[in-house]
Amino acid sequence: MNILLLGSGGREYAIAWKLAQSQRIGQLFIAPGNAGTAAIGQNVNMSATDFDAIAHFAVEHDIQMVVVGPEDPLVRGIYDYFKNTPAISHIPVIGPSKAGAQLEGSKDFAKAFMMRHNIPTARYRSFTADNIEEGYRFLETLQAPYVLKADGLAAGKGVLILPSLDEAKNELRAMLDGMFGNASATVVIEEFLSGIECSVFVLTDGKDYKILPVAKDYKRIGEGDTGLNTGGMGAVSPVAFADQTFMHKVEQRIVIPTIEGLKEENIDYRGFIFLGLINVAGEPMVIEYNVRMGDPETEVVMPRIASDLVDLLEGVATQTLGNRSLETDPRVAVTVMLVSGGYPGNYEKGKVISGIELVEDSILFHAGTSLKDGNIVTSGGRVIAVTSYGTTLQEALDTSYRSASHVDFDGKYLRSDIGKDLENL
Ligand code: AMP
Ligand code: GLY
Repeated sequence: MNILLLGSGGREYAIAWKLAQSQRIGQLFIAPGNAGTAAIGQNVNMSATDFDAIAHFAVEHDIQMVVVGPEDPLVRGIYDYFKNTPAISHIPVIGPSKAGAQLEGSKDFAKAFMMRHNIPTARYRSFTADNIEEGYRFLETLQAPYVLKADGLAAGKGVLILPSLDEAKNELRAMLDGMFGNASATVVIEEFLSGIECSVFVLTDGKDYKILPVAKDYKRIGEGDTGLNTGGMGAVSPVAFADQTFMHKVEQRIVIPTIEGLKEENIDYRGFIFLGLINVAGEPMVIEYNVRMGDPETEVVMPRIASDLVDLLEGVATQTLGNRSLETDPRVAVTVMLVSGGYPGNYEKGKVISGIELVEDSILFHAGTSLKDGNIVTSGGRVIAVTSYGTTLQEALDTSYRSASHVDFDGKYLRSDIGKDLENL
């Protein structure tokens, strides 16, 4: 099967790596890809949101499936575009329809969906500039800290957690005044939940589902989860606290009602669902939905899928997922992200990366890399995810940190405490 994978980060490399291992893969194209994906497939210099170019390419290269990495093309409706364009309507797109992508594209939609289907999540209300006064009154009914969320996509920056009521009111006004442009024309205010988070990934064909290995990511730039939010500085899988009892609750209270809810509302959804969960005293609650895999969670989830990914995705496309098997690798997988100095603020690009060839015991999933004059150079904030297996969390971490020490570039930074919070649980 010829597959076109859209995206360019560590997530896409990990998906490409897994697809390339399949007996069933024909040609694998990645658009636009990175220096790593170029070694396992063919990079195509095309934006993941240029639908016309993608359609043209798909016809020219006899593409039989399109796998979408990031949310942007999904929220913009790539699924519907393919479905409604005769020349390519036979090519399945792995991902939700535009209506389904609203689970990530609109926090207000996601919250209302959860309410309709009785899915556990924080109490909330949504406000616009027209009822800001009511927003202030609602804030007064909540306890600190206060959680404000831009309704639309805001490059991962749209959630503010404020320690005082005054700050919350000020930020509400600023958000409704356009702090995140149109994305914050509506703001969701919700109750603060206290607990530890994890990421659960579900693959669905709209009828059946498979729950993929659970992961935890480390979002902040600094040790001890301090400082600015990033795309993610590392991840581990499995997650000790997400045991059978917890996962049973997740399946019964969240996964099944989500799939059934989509069906009831006639929302076409054939792809990945990412449940951002929080464990509140043993009870799972939804912090957010995403309509794609997580990054860097994918860099530990893909290595723990033992089954053929092309087979599973074909099950999604043909709505026969129920007949396919999902085997998982019992080993622990961890990933440690090497990032550019200054990230998530300003950072320099084009730094030569050395030592890649010295790494033998880990998988290096390139995230922000490119080829320049025969060298592999940095081209993004998150540069390389260093993934390792182990029989224990500690063993996997030791291997990743050892491998990470071999890879170098000017300004390299990593968090040395990935997985530490899980050791004493
Ligand atoms: P989101 O973009 O929705 O994932 O939110 C970013 C981060 O904000 C989450 O990963 C949580 O750490 C935090 N967060 C979001 N909503 C809440 C909430 N209701 N209570 C506590 N923390 C939250
Ligand atoms: N690692 C979190 C995300 O991909 O949104």
